[in-house]
Amino acid sequence: MDVTVAADRAALVKARDSLGPGRIALVPTMGALHEGHRSLVRLAREHADHVVVSVFVNPLQFGPHEDFSRYPRTFDADLRVCEEEGAGVVFAPSAEDMYLPDRQVEVSAGGMGGTAEGAFRPGHFDGVLTVVLKLFNLVRPDVAVFGQKDAQQLALIRRMTADLDVPVSIVAAPTVREPDGLALSSRNRYLSEDDRRTALALSRALSAGAARARTGPAGVLDAARAVLEEAARFDPPLLLDYLILADPATFAPVGGDHRGEAVLAVAAKVGTTRLIDNMVLTL
Ligand code: PAJ
Repeated sequence: MDVTVAADRAALVKARDSLGPGRIALVPTMGALHEGHRSLVRLAREHADHVVVSVFVNPLQFGPHEDFSRYPRTFDADLRVCEEEGAGVVFAPSAEDMYLPDRQVEVSAGGMGGTAEGAFRPGHFDGVLTVVLKLFNLVRPDVAVFGQKDAQQLALIRRMTADLDVPVSIVAAPTVREPDGLALSSRNRYLSEDDRRTALALSRALSAGAARARTGPAGVLDAARAVLEEAARFDPPLLLDYLILADPATFAPVGGDHRGEAVLAVAAKVGTTRLIDNMVLTL
């Protein structure tokens, strides 16, 4: 089956309307597609008759000192991936087409956008929610698929659809990992062999924490922190931004007597590359 490439919003609306009857699923991405993205497209196909993949490196969600300009752009390969996985439409607009030059209004992620990942990336989640709401309005999908890999993003998108009555069902996809545990990420291609060895401490710390889930929040955090502290002495070192055990829906840190679900989330820099990972635990 051929995939239609829509290079601007007008072409997208046209392509969307010619998809024919049936349910539409949207998979928003920033390209540099890997096996994790593929799994999202496959899951989307299980939930709908047509899949639209967006490939757009969204300038609004990058801070002034972040990696917007060096973010990997591999459109030809991305297009092949979408074709192989059976997407019907690939939406790949320019920033000039997506954002009106006189634009004013943005979505605010509220207090939840300022915790955890948001504390280290001011404005990031406002930018994510703004582009995702625009994509929802342009594609008008029945369902949209997001990865658990970006757990706070997933929680905020769920929050946005609830708070703003956005008529889209949100489906979460499990994190796809390398055999050694490293969560797949478009940014992994920046890692040298030595960086990669250090980066493995992220998933190792989460697994160490998960193994202590029965002992409660303090035990989980201690076990994860021990692995991260060891990796801080590696060459290159792991530079920790945060480790939190949080409510998966609100991302507020859980109390010391918390029982039930919690997400153990970590962010760290290795060399010049910033990585995030998380696992959902039952305490
Ligand atoms: P991007 O980082 O390209 O990720 C696109 C989708 O793929 C997200 O839902 C993300 O959680 C998911 N994903 C990434 N790595 C994954 C992995 N290893 N396993 C499973 N899913 C994975 O997230 C974004 O883009 C942007 O913020 C976006 C939502 C597109 C808005 O610009």
